[in-house]
Amino acid sequence: MAGKLMHAVQYDCYGGGAAGLKHAEVPIPTPGKDEVLLKLEATSLNPVDWKIQKGMIRPFLPRRFPCIPATDVAGVVQEVGPGVKNFKPGDAVVAMLNHATGGGLAEYAVAKESLTVPRPPELSAAEGAGLPVAGLTAHMALTRSAEVKLDGSGPRKNILITAASGGVGHYAVQLAKLGNTHVTATCGARNVDFVKSLGADEVLDYKTPEGAALKSPSGQKYDAVVHCATGIPWSVFEPNLSAKGKVIDITPGPSAMWTFAVKKLTLSKKQLVPLLLIPKKENLDYLVNLVKGGKLKTVIDSKHPLSRAEEAWAKSIDGHATGKIIVEP
Ligand SMILES: NC(=O)c1ccc[n+]([C@@H]2O[C@H](COP(=O)([O-])OP(=O)(O)OC[C@H]3O[C@@H](n4cnc5c(N)ncnc54)[C@H](OP(=O)(O)O)[C@@H]3O)[C@@H](O)[C@H]2O)c1
Repeated sequence: MAGKLMHAVQYDCYGGGAAGLKHAEVPIPTPGKDEVLLKLEATSLNPVDWKIQKGMIRPFLPRRFPCIPATDVAGVVQEVGPGVKNFKPGDAVVAMLNHATGGGLAEYAVAKESLTVPRPPELSAAEGAGLPVAGLTAHMALTRSAEVKLDGSGPRKNILITAASGGVGHYAVQLAKLGNTHVTATCGARNVDFVKSLGADEVLDYKTPEGAALKSPSGQKYDAVVHCATGIPWSVFEPNLSAKGKVIDITPGPSAMWTFAVKKLTLSKKQLVPLLLIPKKENLDYLVNLVKGGKLKTVIDSKHPLSRAEEAWAKSIDGHATGKIIVEP
């Protein structure tokens, strides 16, 4: 494909939101030694994509411009680098691209073999593309931080999932219910029935006083909170936690980091755990197979053509998606 052009959506400076995205014809990338070139069929957006554009993560992930954003993709292998062992042209896959380089809002992208997994025919491209960042974060929060065993073998745990209607939250509810758990979830009024349908045992509307206080209607104290919303102070969580309860904060700001340090230093039994996703191929494969087996589903908020990717971008910034926002070349 060397020398051929593809359609891509990119930005060339920090800031600008959806209006900062530009459509361009750019060279199709060439796969490196351990990379595959994918013809993309679907890309899902995550809040981190527009947070990077906003410059919010600049000290950790400085951009090189122009930048084609988005990391969560599904497509078909076109070419493989000389070191690639497990894929060949024609294979359908799900992959997570590198956050440092992005590349997902385009017709083609290169992915590391180490974060690419086969996509069985039971999964549509959109269902696969939803999984990487959101599914892996939900999986990591539950299995590593909350120590829930997804085969149901562990001790019973009470789990609270905030923003259960969002990308991470909707996977977290379903995954938590594979374990031995009681799940309380928060979402907006319009999504209460939806979140119950994902398996939550009880659901709170976050705009009611009970919802804002995170009080379980049946009086549960939470062993772990998978905190996918933002802006809820420790003082709201604290009275709702069991003796050794943990808040796993996936968007830890300065006040969460302060609480984390104070709770550690004072040897508090109740802890705040900041979480940063460490993506692993075997976990992505595990999630793909759960979807294949009908035990996990990707709920699609909306699909947008690449030619109107800015609409998808604006929707993600708006923060009211139910499930995953998908862009299709
Ligand atoms: N640490 C990591 O590695 C990592 C990985 C992935 C994501 N994240 C972060 O995790 C957060 C969630 O990501 P996401 O992809 O799930 O976001 P998302 O899909 O954009 O979440 C949108 C959903 O959140 C709901 N919501 C917003 N505020 C809420 C509240 N206070 N209580 C209950 N529900 C609320 C919205 O409901 P309404 O429309 O009804 O308001 C909407 O359905 C983001 O800040 C993201 O950057 C971190």
